[in-house]
Amino acid sequence: MENIKSLRIGMAGLGMIFDETYLPVFLETIRHPLWFPETGPVIPKLHALYSRTGTRGKDLLNRHGESLGKPSNHLVSNTPLPDLDQLDALLVATPDDRHFSLAREALNAGKHVLIEKPSVLSLHELDVLNDIARKNNCLARVVYHKLLDPDHKRLRTLVHDGVMRSVRSGYATLLEPKQICSQQFSEWITGRNPGSYVAVHYIKLIDFTFGPSSGQKWALKRISATGQRGLAGPADGNTWDSVQLRVEYEYPDSREAAFDIHTSWVNPDCFPGYVDQEVQFRFENAIWLAHQRKRGVELSIEGMTPLLIKETPNHHYNSELLDPWNQRSRQGYGLEVIRRFFGDIAFLNHGGHDSERHARLTSLRTQEWCDLSGDRNTVAIVQAMEGILQAHANGSPGGVVTVNGKAGGLVLCLPGDPVRKVLYDGKV
Ligand SMILES: NC(=O)c1ccc[n+]([C@@H]2O[C@H](COP(=O)([O-])OP(=O)(O)OC[C@H]3O[C@@H](n4cnc5c(N)ncnc54)[C@H](O)[C@@H]3O)[C@@H](O)[C@H]2O)c1
Repeated sequence: MENIKSLRIGMAGLGMIFDETYLPVFLETIRHPLWFPETGPVIPKLHALYSRTGTRGKDLLNRHGESLGKPSNHLVSNTPLPDLDQLDALLVATPDDRHFSLAREALNAGKHVLIEKPSVLSLHELDVLNDIARKNNCLARVVYHKLLDPDHKRLRTLVHDGVMRSVRSGYATLLEPKQICSQQFSEWITGRNPGSYVAVHYIKLIDFTFGPSSGQKWALKRISATGQRGLAGPADGNTWDSVQLRVEYEYPDSREAAFDIHTSWVNPDCFPGYVDQEVQFRFENAIWLAHQRKRGVELSIEGMTPLLIKETPNHHYNSELLDPWNQRSRQGYGLEVIRRFFGDIAFLNHGGHDSERHARLTSLRTQEWCDLSGDRNTVAIVQAMEGILQAHANGSPGGVVTVNGKAGGLVLCLPGDPVRKVLYDGKV
């Protein structure tokens, strides 16, 4: 047992995504440590909890304190973050407009960071985090679990191998139930939109799968967006019920590709699935149609479906499963992505001689699917969408953001307004 190495992990934000994905990984790896050839067995230990009121931390300690080794419980408003100096890494799963400051504090203290999607809401923030991570030799990463969905890995394989060529257009929808905006996120919903919250899943999937990582050269060109209000907030306010986003790319020979991504968090709660997710990607020689919840299972249980248990579940993401050998655990790509981060920190910290640490870090940083340095287009699209929606709420709908033109990296153009607003002047 002495040979088991541990990682001391801090967790900021103890909400839904923590309960669904991070907590099961911590509980599971206590019983079955991670194992890698370079490190041997490794246990990621939850060492410190940070949340807005401390209540969820107390609740977690009541439920699992003993098994988790009694992590310390803190308010995030205490600065500097208590016990940060004792950590190897901080995980950030707070609401999306509160990722940046926590990640910056951790990186400044020389700690690795994993941030829930969207990493941050502007390229300025991304630049700051990337600079500190580089200066302090830390890993700075973001979670996009959809890239690990077996269907999306297969999609990428076919694109990467040239079987499906040159994507030309497509759409994706991701519709969340009304309880997300009315209950779960009611504390932080004001001024927010479902596009930044969930369109990012598909923005990243498209940008990563069809872009340079698969051998395609293309450039992000234009972003436009509109949306609807009146349910999550006032009809003339800045809180959005649903958002329609369009993202356009250009290939080197001037051909273009366009994608529409529709999101909402006001879908009926009695909907048959947790989230409705559907995509269609059209290629030069192929078409890919996929539905994330209609994967074959349809379930009806009297008195339970569709409110307590959904009728068309996606068991690949995250499910409690009883294995044939009677071991019960949560499994799925939503957890695999977190294990992967722990594995990479273990490899970095314990995977060889200290003199080779920099080489290990450099190789880990080339993983653009999760490294913050590979998140530029996704953050640029989120920043553009936020800028367009803000202008819309201020009375100027119909904006378009152009990318890497003469006037700057991200430039907002509004109909009838000759003045261009530069959102980001560096190159995206
Ligand atoms: N990967 C996914 O599919 C997925 C799904 C849901 C949420 N998320 C992401 O996870 C993050 C959190 O979402 P959630 O659904 O868990 O939200 P939630 O509202 O359920 O929980 C948020 C948690 O953050 C805490 N918090 C709020 N402000 C804070 C602050 N300033 N500092 C520290 N803690 C703070 C709250 O106390 C709460 O514990 C968001 O970035 C969201 O986009 C990802």
